Amino acid sequence: MASRAHTLERFAWIPLAAVVAAVVAAAPALAADPYPSKPITLVVPFSAGGPTDVVARSVGAAMSKTLGQTVVVENKTGAGGTVAPAHVARADADGYTILIHHNGMATAPALYRKLSYDPLKDFEYVGQVADVPMTMLGKKDLPPNTAAELIKYAQQNKDKVNLANAGLGAVSQLCGLLFEQAVGVKFNVIPFQGTAPALNALLGGQVDLLCDQTTSTLPHIAAGKVKMYGVTTPERIKALPNAPTLQEGGLKGFDMKVWHGVYAPKGTPPDAVAKLTAALQAALKDPAVVKRMQDLGAEIVPASKQTPEGLKTRLKAESDKWQPMLKRAGAVAD
Ligand code: MLT
Repeated sequence: MASRAHTLERFAWIPLAAVVAAVVAAAPALAADPYPSKPITLVVPFSAGGPTDVVARSVGAAMSKTLGQTVVVENKTGAGGTVAPAHVARADADGYTILIHHNGMATAPALYRKLSYDPLKDFEYVGQVADVPMTMLGKKDLPPNTAAELIKYAQQNKDKVNLANAGLGAVSQLCGLLFEQAVGVKFNVIPFQGTAPALNALLGGQVDLLCDQTTSTLPHIAAGKVKMYGVTTPERIKALPNAPTLQEGGLKGFDMKVWHGVYAPKGTPPDAVAKLTAALQAALKDPAVVKRMQDLGAEIVPASKQTPEGLKTRLKAESDKWQPMLKRAGAVAD
């Protein structure tokens, strides 16, 4: 009996030994399959070919070189740029679905009564990307020629002046609001469904004013198809060295730039976030990206801001800056 029990005991160990052997055999395969082992989707809240999309495609292509996997851009548009973050907040937190977004991450909580995500709680932060200046433009035959003349004209003709924007949540809406406040007038605001139709309306002379990103306005300024009243940043920009700032034109303290960050769903493993941050940092040194950003008038943020902490700090500061102002302006949707 003793020897039979001994035999059974020996057999009882076989499956365990087999399991151990299988795990040991699989270990190299597991180790050889680290993140990322398949393409990563970079979700963009706005249309293909638009200002955010062109930044995303340039940076995403360069990130894929470091990650060794394709970064596929997916445009999930709608609801003023809130559909995309809602989608990413609910996506699997595995590092394969990430988001690029602009100022809208800081402004949406004040613009939408019902928001299904919390920008400050539902994401991991990969890093900031680049800042894009904006330009205050007029239709070609608008009478004023300078920012100072525009301010006077706006104050004297406030009921007649149309100001276009790319819709609720667009940075052109924010810039327009800031401009109205700075000048002390309420324009006849005309929202369009995106940057392209708003710009077309300005080029076609159907609207008087539009404040939008250099990403889309530089070619039209260069071609003399619009009147350029000033850049929205405190300092002049490299892409338009001869263009005055709106501050120089008399709007003291006027400061508006579009900033971008890359986000992952809350709970994404730290190792994956660290790899995404490293890939972002490498992308922002890539000569092709540097050149593309220069051509768009964009400025890559300093290395210290291309970090999770850098993005989180910016998001918090911009939320604190914009949300009270938007609430006071009553620019709210459901
Ligand atoms: C876009 O990419 O279409 C713009 O960034 C939208 C906007 O003006 O906010």
